[in-house]
Amino acid sequence: MSNDMKKSALITGGAKRIGRAIAIYLAENGYDIALHYNTSEKEAQSAKKEIISLGRKCNLYKLNLHNNRDLTSFIKKVKMSFPGLSILINNASIFEEGRFLETDLSLLNKHFNINFKAPFLLSQGFARYCKKGQIINLLDTNIKRTKTKYLAYNLSKKLLFEFTKMAALELAPNIRVNAIAPGPILPPPGKDIKYLQEKGGVVPLQRNGEIKNIIQGVNFLIENDYVTGQCIFIDGGKHLLQNQ
Ligand SMILES: NC(=O)c1ccc[n+]([C@@H]2O[C@H](COP(=O)([O-])OP(=O)(O)OC[C@H]3O[C@@H](n4cnc5c(N)ncnc54)[C@H](OP(=O)(O)O)[C@@H]3O)[C@@H](O)[C@H]2O)c1
Repeated sequence: MSNDMKKSALITGGAKRIGRAIAIYLAENGYDIALHYNTSEKEAQSAKKEIISLGRKCNLYKLNLHNNRDLTSFIKKVKMSFPGLSILINNASIFEEGRFLETDLSLLNKHFNINFKAPFLLSQGFARYCKKGQIINLLDTNIKRTKTKYLAYNLSKKLLFEFTKMAALELAPNIRVNAIAPGPILPPPGKDIKYLQEKGGVVPLQRNGEIKNIIQGVNFLIENDYVTGQCIFIDGGKHLLQNQ
């Protein structure tokens, strides 16, 4: 393979937490990394340093996915620097509380723009410019439940779940589209481990998951080339419970 066509991956929200772990895992496995971030400049620089120390190329892309609609040309730009771009990980997301009557248009738009429309448009760009490869969308175990405390968030992830299956059908056979639905893995920013331990109580496997469990899912989806349109619930069985 020529150096220019080196296998490469784009990860959104890749500066920290789960996105960063996926970026490092892919770099360890030979991928050059296009790492998208929004506000976490310092963490993005630190992830870049680590990726370069693994002998891979890493470019950083700062972009607010809330108000940026030109995401197809963003993919075109990334593809010019990474001609071997073959993986898109739609990981960036927001998670804000609000039941139905508390969810105004601004909260709804924010969740739909970042959590659903951005992956939709990035996938469209990926299909147009990369033509071959795979897309992995990060969902949430709660897509299986009628949870209303984070109504806009849950709706946006439910929509992304349906889109994952539609895109898998539309983009086969050259692009596989799958999803991972994590359960309690990391407490949301601002919440401590106690928050997750409380959640862990209602998980059939009676404990929280770890980032390594998500990485194992990413590895499975990348390696198994007969899987598309799937969502793997990495949630200790939480999706089996009805609204608990
Ligand atoms: N953590 C869990 O246990 C858990 C459970 C269920 C589902 N998930 C899903 O798994 C994925 C990763 O989870 P996580 O907890 O690691 O995610 P996270 O820390 O909540 O968010 C990931 C990144 O999204 C980016 N982001 C937020 N708003 C953005 C915007 N307007 N424009 C561009 N980027 C934006 C942020 O980038 P910057 O920091 O650069 O601003 C952030 O670092 C998410 O899709 C999440 O919904 C996670």
